Amino acid sequence: MALVAKGLSYTYAVGTGFATPALRNVDLTVERGAVAVVLGATGSGKSTLLRLCAGLLEPGSGSVTADGTLIAGHGARPARGMIGLAFQNPEAQLFAESVLDDVAFGPRNLGMPDPEAAARHALARVGLDPDEFCGRSPFTLSGGEARRVALAGVLAMSPAYLLLDEPTAGLDPLGRSAVRDAIAAARERAGVVIVTHDAEDFLGMADEIVGITGGEEAFRGAPAELLASEEPWRRAGIRLPEIVRVQLLAAHHGARIDAPTLEPESAALLLARAIGGAQ
Ligand SMILES: Nc1ncnc2c1ncn2[C@@H]1O[C@H](COP(=O)(O)OP(=O)(O)O)[C@@H](O)[C@H]1O
Ligand SMILES: [Mg+2]
Repeated sequence: MALVAKGLSYTYAVGTGFATPALRNVDLTVERGAVAVVLGATGSGKSTLLRLCAGLLEPGSGSVTADGTLIAGHGARPARGMIGLAFQNPEAQLFAESVLDDVAFGPRNLGMPDPEAAARHALARVGLDPDEFCGRSPFTLSGGEARRVALAGVLAMSPAYLLLDEPTAGLDPLGRSAVRDAIAAARERAGVVIVTHDAEDFLGMADEIVGITGGEEAFRGAPAELLASEEPWRRAGIRLPEIVRVQLLAAHHGARIDAPTLEPESAALLLARAIGGAQ
């Protein structure tokens, strides 16, 4: 049971003088219960990759299957409810008169038994109090609230695969941790693909990381192996989290740090031990 993208390529405005190759031969696999994180600078092709995986764009070449069903590629058919995409700009996604109607729209459309209950549950999941937010107009929300409501709208449909485009952009620390918690809960049933230019928030929960640059794969691996060196990141033009850079720099200056960590507590211990402090 997996979402499998193979050899995906895409060019915008193909056949015109404005043709822009956006993605070249990119592979991605995520099993249910797993999290894949795609990192890349702005313009590297992350949103294009997600649109292809959701079946919203037809690939120039390559294919996407979800649990064996062809989602994108020659002969693909729409797979209702299997894939949920949260767009990069949430304003584009919200449209109903109330937050409740907006979040319940997907479940209602799919014929789920209790759309409003699913909507309230999803709002709570992203850290928004349903009693406070259900009656609000989506157009009165702050940017961070709108982003979380849009995510709730996708979670409420319980898709088998969740595709999230920069899900923590513009959120404050509380909002970021609410979104991370919601994703951690969703992955118990679903496979999750997160694309972001900001490595900080999601490396800790990733099973696999794929770096892309200029529409092509730059690196791929498990977090532990990719945190061991800054080199692949530098080549791809992607910044490692500061906490990891500090440990790599300390190692460069002679501190004995075998495997950098993303956790501040354990990073502090590693550094303290390296200078002969903590035991
Ligand atoms: N609708 C579009 N028409 C033409 N070019 C586009 C369109 N959307 C994106 N692009 C171009 O495709 C490339 C990849 O864009 P995108 O997938 O949005 O990157 P990212 O999400 O990593 O910032 C960029 O060069 C961008 O300018
Ligand atoms: Mg994007």
